[in-house]
Amino acid sequence: MSCTDCHSGKDTTGGHSNRTIGRHVARVACQTCHIPIFAKNADNTIATEETEIHRDWQQPHPTASGVIHPKPTMAGNLYPTYKWWNGTSSSYLLYDRVASPIPTTIPTSAPNGSVNNDGSKLYPFKYKTAFQPLNSSTNELIALDTSVYFSTGNFVDATETNAAVTTADVKASNGVVHIINKVLLPQEVLDILNPPVPNIVETAQSVEDLSLLVAALIQADAGLVGVLSGDGPFTVFAPSNAAFAALLDALGNDYNSLADFDTDEEKALLARVLTYHVVAGAAVASTDLTNHQELMTVQGESLFAILGHGVQIRDKSAVDANVTTADVMASNGIVHIVDKVLQTQEIVDILNPSH
Ligand code: HEC
Ligand code: HEC
Repeated sequence: MSCTDCHSGKDTTGGHSNRTIGRHVARVACQTCHIPIFAKNADNTIATEETEIHRDWQQPHPTASGVIHPKPTMAGNLYPTYKWWNGTSSSYLLYDRVASPIPTTIPTSAPNGSVNNDGSKLYPFKYKTAFQPLNSSTNELIALDTSVYFSTGNFVDATETNAAVTTADVKASNGVVHIINKVLLPQEVLDILNPPVPNIVETAQSVEDLSLLVAALIQADAGLVGVLSGDGPFTVFAPSNAAFAALLDALGNDYNSLADFDTDEEKALLARVLTYHVVAGAAVASTDLTNHQELMTVQGESLFAILGHGVQIRDKSAVDANVTTADVMASNGIVHIVDKVLQTQEIVDILNPSH
């Protein structure tokens, strides 16, 4: 059921008597104008129309029926939060991993869409938050056992995954058996069930097409392997093997392989090229980028995100790199594979000596 099922024609430019409104209906949802405040107290009953805006599972809250609920925070007369929405939502499902390091807030479900996305309209939303459990060793959201929580209100017991003894002390001729409700798992099996998330260097090592990037990180001999294995978050634009081959080609006969960066000066040059591919302090997903967004690199010069023909990255040269595989998640950041080695001003000058 939508507003126009009953108010037909209101979504057309002439649907409202005021023509200015008609210019907005294509991109502004009916609710945005017609529901400026929600959870309004109607004053016609003693009941309040307040709505739940936060739920804290760490604070049990007994209800009249004896069932224990997480403590809700209620509020009324609220202004919506406005978001562009294309009708789909992003959502974390149970056992999904959140980015590492774990952010202070995790949007478990949020509207997808943007002002640039033709399918999107501006909608009003109720913004609701909760404290809920996360397994900080695997970065997974975990379910509370609500049957335990509703009867005990105990947050820890409800997230407890320990085995319980269901039948104790079954005597045998050569010992005693306790029946438990769970198969006990050694670490080795847990690692298979929840493989540890590789870091950026391990991620690069696992991708065949990034073997020259790994070789370059080692060849530069500037501690980059250690840095990119360490605490992030980092955003790394990872050139493919073909991209490195193209750079070597462009550099001419003196550079047939990465091993030809063998003097101290050449290794330092290679390190400056590589750090031009790294943004420190943020794991930026391709969907978080905005057109012409400036990305300050560890090398010191900027890159720019260019959106429109997929995701492209603008360096100091005249040719943008294409992101061919976006959003490879690593434990300490995010990797976007690009089809070109990004060129610092120094490399542009080397490749175009006449300028
Ligand atoms: C099931 C049919 C139905 C749907 C769906 C519906 N409405 Fe209505 N709406 C009505 C009726 C009936 C009235 C009262 C008309 C009257 O009093 O003349 C009304 C009245 C209104 C009014 C005028 C209120 C006033 O003060 O005069 C607005 C504005 C409105 N609706 C907006 C919306 C919006 C926005 C939506 C979608 C979120 C919506 N309606 C969905 C049936 C509907
Ligand atoms: C940009 C804000 C805006 C949007 C978007 C908008 N409206 Fe309205 N609407 C208004 C305003 C302001 C009025 C009162 C002035 C008017 O009728 O021109 C109104 C009036 C109405 C009325 C009552 C008009 C009457 O017959 O007296 C209805 C019903 C209504 N809108 C439904 C809708 C529906 C359905 C949509 C979505 C398809 C919608 N509106 C989108 C601002 C908006």
